[in-house]
Amino acid sequence: MKVLVTAPLPGPWVPWLAERHEVLVFPNPAGPARPELLAWAAANRDAAALLALLTVRVDEALLGVLPSLRVVANYAVGVDNVDLTACAARAVVVCNTPEVLTDATADLTWALLLACARRVTEGERFLRDGRWEAFCPTLLLGVPVAGATLGIVGLGRIGRAVARRARGFGMRVLYASPRDAGDPEARRVPLEELLASADFVSLHCPLNDRTRGLLDAQRLALLRPHAVLVNTARGPLVDEAALAEALHAGRLGGAALDVYTDEPRIPQRLLTAPNTVLLPHLGSASRAAREAMARLAVEGIATALAGGAPANRV
Ligand code: DGY
Repeated sequence: MKVLVTAPLPGPWVPWLAERHEVLVFPNPAGPARPELLAWAAANRDAAALLALLTVRVDEALLGVLPSLRVVANYAVGVDNVDLTACAARAVVVCNTPEVLTDATADLTWALLLACARRVTEGERFLRDGRWEAFCPTLLLGVPVAGATLGIVGLGRIGRAVARRARGFGMRVLYASPRDAGDPEARRVPLEELLASADFVSLHCPLNDRTRGLLDAQRLALLRPHAVLVNTARGPLVDEAALAEALHAGRLGGAALDVYTDEPRIPQRLLTAPNTVLLPHLGSASRAAREAMARLAVEGIATALAGGAPANRV
C-alpha cells in the first residue's frame, strides 16, 4: 500500500516500512509547504497512510484529496495540527508519538529555564562579541533557580518530568490542571494563583479550543515582575504580542520559548525583547527521541495497514 512520509526522518524505521509498503518520502527536510503538500497528495490519491510532521495541517482539504487514506501517524505527541473530527468522519485512524519524547522535552525545558534565569545565551553573545573586559560584580545578574517556585501549567507526562527535575533544585512546585494529578509533591492551584505566585512558569498543556490564548494580556499581567515564562508546548497558548510588550515594558523577568504562533515566523517585537531565549522548536530534538518518534509513527502505520489498532491511537 502507498504511504506518504512528509519529510526524511532519522533512524532505520522508514526504510523498514519501505520493505513492506510503497513509501514516498517528501525530500525537503522541513516537509512540504501547503501548496506543495496538496499537489503531492493529489498526485498520490491512492495513498493509504500519511506520516505527518506537526507542520502539516491535516484538515478537510487534505483529506479530500486522499480518499483512500486509512491512517494518519502524527510525528509529534501534540495533535493540534490534525482535525480529529474530520478524520473520525472519514474513519481515518490517527496516532501520535507519546512517551518517547517526554524526557527530551523536559530536558530542553530545563535548558531554557536555566539559560534564561542565568542569562546564558546573552552572556555567550556578550563574550563572542568581544565585549567582555573583566570580571564584574554587576555583569549580567540573573535570578536564582534553587529554592524558587515553579508553576507548571498542565501536569501530564512532560509536566511531571519537568516537576521531577525541579525536585533536584529544591523547588516548590505548583501546578494548574483540569484534573488532580495526585502528585503529593506538587500542589494544585487555580491558574491565576499559580501565575501570581511562581518565579518560573512552564507550559505543558495541549493546544485545543480551551487552551488557545490561555496566557492572554490579562493573565500575563498577573506574572511577577521577575518571573520567567517557559514555553516548550505550543506557541498559540500565549498571546505573543502581549508577551513581547510585557518584556519590553520590564513587567516580566524573561521568556524562554521553543514554540511560536506562526512558526517559523517570529514577531519582530519578540526578537528584540530583552531577556529572551528563543529556540527553533527543538523540544524533542535528541537523536534518540526523534528516532523513537519515527519508530512509533511507523509502527502505527504498519499496524493500521495490517488491519490492527495502533497502540498510540488518539
Ligand atoms: C510534539 O511532539 O508535540 C513536539 O512539539 C515535537 O517536538
